[in-house]
Amino acid sequence: MADLKPSIMVIFGASGDLAHIKIFPALYSLWEEGFFPESFALVGFARTKMNDEEFRKSIFSSLNSHCRKRPIQEEDFLKFSKHIYYLPSLYDKVESYTELGKFITSKANEYKITKNIVYYLSTPPSVYNDAIEGIKNADLVSEDFKGEGFSKIVIEKPFGYDYKSAKELNEHLLSVFKEEDIYRIDHYLGKETVQNILAFRFSNAIFEPIWNNKYIDHVQISALESIGVGLRAGYFDESGTIRDMMQNHMIQLLSLVAIEPPALFDADDIRNEKVKLLKSVRPLSLNDVKKYTVRGQYDRGVIDGKQVVSYKEEEGIDANSITDTYAAMKLYVDNYRWAGVPFYLRAGKRLKTHKTEIAVYFKKLPYSLFAKAGIENIKQNSIIITIQPNEGISINIGAKKPGFVMDIEPVCMVFNYKSSFRLSPPDAYERLIYDVILGDQTLFARYDDMLIAWQLITSVMNGWSKMEPPVFPNYDAGSWGPKEADELIGADGREWNNAV
Ligand code: NDP
Ligand code: BG6
Repeated sequence: MADLKPSIMVIFGASGDLAHIKIFPALYSLWEEGFFPESFALVGFARTKMNDEEFRKSIFSSLNSHCRKRPIQEEDFLKFSKHIYYLPSLYDKVESYTELGKFITSKANEYKITKNIVYYLSTPPSVYNDAIEGIKNADLVSEDFKGEGFSKIVIEKPFGYDYKSAKELNEHLLSVFKEEDIYRIDHYLGKETVQNILAFRFSNAIFEPIWNNKYIDHVQISALESIGVGLRAGYFDESGTIRDMMQNHMIQLLSLVAIEPPALFDADDIRNEKVKLLKSVRPLSLNDVKKYTVRGQYDRGVIDGKQVVSYKEEEGIDANSITDTYAAMKLYVDNYRWAGVPFYLRAGKRLKTHKTEIAVYFKKLPYSLFAKAGIENIKQNSIIITIQPNEGISINIGAKKPGFVMDIEPVCMVFNYKSSFRLSPPDAYERLIYDVILGDQTLFARYDDMLIAWQLITSVMNGWSKMEPPVFPNYDAGSWGPKEADELIGADGREWNNAV
């Protein structure tokens, strides 16, 4: 097993949702499976008044609802929870950071460990700058303070609100931490199926030779959700799907499906290739934004047999909101491999189904041998990489239907994670937190790929702000999204893969 250094993790916003639903369940699973340093301390840092015991109790109950390892036995949790502490703190008060410094020093002495510190920002973004400033002003990253240890920072999405704010936040971070100590989370990169995109492309001799514009007709990347805005109305109404999904998860998927093979399978080489790829994405002019992007917002409708309200009727959402709950776009990657191949991206909430997939469609046959037998429309071959649910890969081919006449039918060759490996894959957060402690940045966004993604998305947002606002809502909950998205791909004689 890798050498995991004894560490102290300080979780800002530890009273919140993400800490309870994702971070602590991931920490517990790692600890339970032995993927954790022997000496460690987990310190909650937030405004809510609680003592260690109350904090531990709240973690225990959320582990039993959200942890992959549930049900959690009390005696096991007791061993784990001895390492959990809570410091009621104010994010903008110097005294809170002074106390944090004293606490870290005392725990390092008690556990006889070097001050290897991970600061995990799991607060709303409005707190990020105060937290970075507080850490800096209290000297909690200086060589004097940590001695031989490291100090890393993990930062949740959204990383900024647009290109300018992302750049400013980045500069602020870099004034305190080194790039190699900054871990910008995009939880999609921690998903097994997303990591498998590179394994699939670069560990199989049969796919890479056809992975280019000579054979591929177009690529569709879809992240469809049937859930609505849930309890995150305040955040989502300011973000919309364009910032919430497109700027990060969708652009990362596009990068992985399209990058060139890196020289080495390591953080810098992979991220260098991503930057190269994103620089090749054709920028969108205002006219392109009008032609090649679509935004939508859901109306009332029926999901899983239940009536659901429209976006504007959701709790906490302004009745006049023009926030997008759906976005689609067509992009081109102007390089040797992909010239002329459209990439269609779509993401949205309250849709007919929940599926995230990459569908790669191959070109039509140059000539049909079977036309004379009356078989005209042989379906294009396609490879569907299903990120979730039913994680796997299917290859759609044509095969002769058994019988005395020649007839060709589409059939599907399927690789399914569950049946092939019979393992429950770790949650994305487990993998990402493990990598933070290990010091592997491969699955984290780097400042330059993140900024290029913001550049592209900011041009779309600017374009939208100059255009006549759409008449929202424009799609029913439980549908496949706005008709304009069908028209976007339909204009090229293609259609979305709506197979479920
Ligand atoms: P919460 O709204 O639950 O906030 C986390 C904690 O931050 C709260 O418990 C609260 O702690 C503190 N806080 C909340 N609002 C403010 C405020 N206005 N000023 C100062 N402190 C505040 O957020 P989540 O836990 O849901 O998310 C944390 C981060 O992770 C966010 O950046 C979010 O975008 C991101 N994220 C969340 C996901 C999710 O599913 N929840 C998914 C992906 C990313 P206290 O009052 O005790 O200080
Ligand atoms: C988050 C978005 O980053 O990703 C959410 O903020 C979205 O709005 C979620 O629902 C989707 O993640 P997953 O892992 O459920 O596909």
